[in-house]
Amino acid sequence: MSEASFPHRDLVGIAPLSAKDIELVLDRAEKWAAFNRGQRRRGDRLAGITQINAFFEPSTRTMISFELAGKRLGADVVALQATGSSMAKGESLIDTVRTLDAMGPDILVVRHGRTGAADEIAGAVNAAVVNAGDGTGEHPTQALLDALAIRRHFGRIAGLTVAICGDIAHSRVARSNLLALGKLGVKLRAVGPQALLPEDGDDIALFTDMDEGIAGADVVMMLRIQRERMDDALAGKLEDYRARYGLSRERLRRVAPDAVVMHPGPMNRGVEIESAVADDAERSLILKQVELGVAVRMACLDLLAGGG
Ligand code: CP
Repeated sequence: MSEASFPHRDLVGIAPLSAKDIELVLDRAEKWAAFNRGQRRRGDRLAGITQINAFFEPSTRTMISFELAGKRLGADVVALQATGSSMAKGESLIDTVRTLDAMGPDILVVRHGRTGAADEIAGAVNAAVVNAGDGTGEHPTQALLDALAIRRHFGRIAGLTVAICGDIAHSRVARSNLLALGKLGVKLRAVGPQALLPEDGDDIALFTDMDEGIAGADVVMMLRIQRERMDDALAGKLEDYRARYGLSRERLRRVAPDAVVMHPGPMNRGVEIESAVADDAERSLILKQVELGVAVRMACLDLLAGGG
């Protein structure tokens, strides 16, 4: 591996990372992606390193890919079963993570429904903390894997136009992507109902009209409506959402000729995205995003464990 270094103890968000840090993660992830395509995917680079995954909110992609990532690098990986933990007896989140930390993990991967929880945990433990998603805060490894998927497809990132569409206000994926892609020189658009657009549009073009927002875009990144994070009044205003913002084949005619479609998952087919678009092998990067998620998480774990 190269002599470049990753000058961060934790990975709580994209905000503290420089473009150089992001590119280092992506370059390292390229190597792990090739490794993951091999026949025997078990290395020893993190032998002797202990990784605890503590997911206090549901997950499929992130949880399994962090487990695979640690195991493929040879780490000892343990998962806290949050529903069966002593939090059910009233133990607080911070007491829970301090208890885990007392067992001496090197890396603690955490997902929590409260914005700011990962930062709070990072301040309370000795282990390196990786934020696997905190409320509406950040989801840094999702943004890094999205950036890798874009870079791989186009061979570059700077100068591309990326339209992030849907429930941006409640999306940690959108927040991390806006930060990461902005640092990498992408022309950013946010597209959605006014109530779901970001408040601060600096360097981000805002659109409430989907057809205008995706016109000529190189990447259309669709997001799920996060009804679990909104009140009934707002949810009630979204009845015509599918017609106004759903990504259909018809609507996709407006994008750049070689444009791609992305979605972090989980998808609500027939709401924000039609199945014909999600499953379009020519345009959809959705399963490629999932595949690259393992490689990006391997790169992050390795760099945080001192593999800089
Ligand atoms: N994209 C993402 O975070 O998916 P999961 O909730 O399944 O981990």
